[in-house]
Amino acid sequence: MPLAIVSALPEEQQGLQLLLTHTTTERHAGRTFTRGMFHGQEVVLALSGIGKVAAATTTAVLMERFAIQRLVFTGVAGGLAPHVRVGDVVVATQFVQHDMDVRPLFTRWQVPGYAAPHFDCDAQLTQALAHAAAQCISAAQQWQLPLLAGHAPQVHHGLIASGDQFIVAANTSQRIHSELQAAGYPVLAVEMEGAAIAQTCADYGLPFAAVRTISDRADDSAHLDFPSFVQSVASRYALEMMQALLKN
Ligand code: ADE
Repeated sequence: MPLAIVSALPEEQQGLQLLLTHTTTERHAGRTFTRGMFHGQEVVLALSGIGKVAAATTTAVLMERFAIQRLVFTGVAGGLAPHVRVGDVVVATQFVQHDMDVRPLFTRWQVPGYAAPHFDCDAQLTQALAHAAAQCISAAQQWQLPLLAGHAPQVHHGLIASGDQFIVAANTSQRIHSELQAAGYPVLAVEMEGAAIAQTCADYGLPFAAVRTISDRADDSAHLDFPSFVQSVASRYALEMMQALLKN
């Protein structure tokens, strides 16, 4: 039973396809899915596109058409907590939707019909991903990437917030961070797909884990930092981490 590797953008899993053997492709719901083998493991690669609905559709197709057994997301995110810097890696332990607000019918961030506002990642798969992230970071120390400007990248573990919004203003990211923090949710990073995949995987009872490399600080220069990071660094990190995950 295959492991699915999902990203929003092609750069976030670039190169991975070249490592697979026995590849076949199929199209469903306007997306291309690539099956293949890596180190004796059956893998399905998929690009979800951007946003929560696109991510949920992709996850449902993977479940219904490919009978996947586990799903890993690899991509980039904006850093929200002050210590989460460009080039760092966040291994998610939980997800919340920062744009979910059904007050006064439900409490803030609560997804109606579920037990809590947050969705947990699978502990075992997350541990495997954390191990892969640590291996990637120690390799990245040698790459001397100009974009990291001498900063030694770190791996963080914790909560990621998702929403259908690309955050490009420091006051917006500070608001998201401080509101969640005040409610007992110390959020590390923001992106646009993870919580939707976590919710869909919870619906199907499918183990899910996610890793995000920090491409920008979700501030007033995010629109400049994001594209240059995605083009020059994201694919290298993703390839290194996924290879480590599949080999371990
Ligand atoms: N993914 C990467 N950077 C992001 C940002 N600033 N906002 C939302 N998603 C992101």
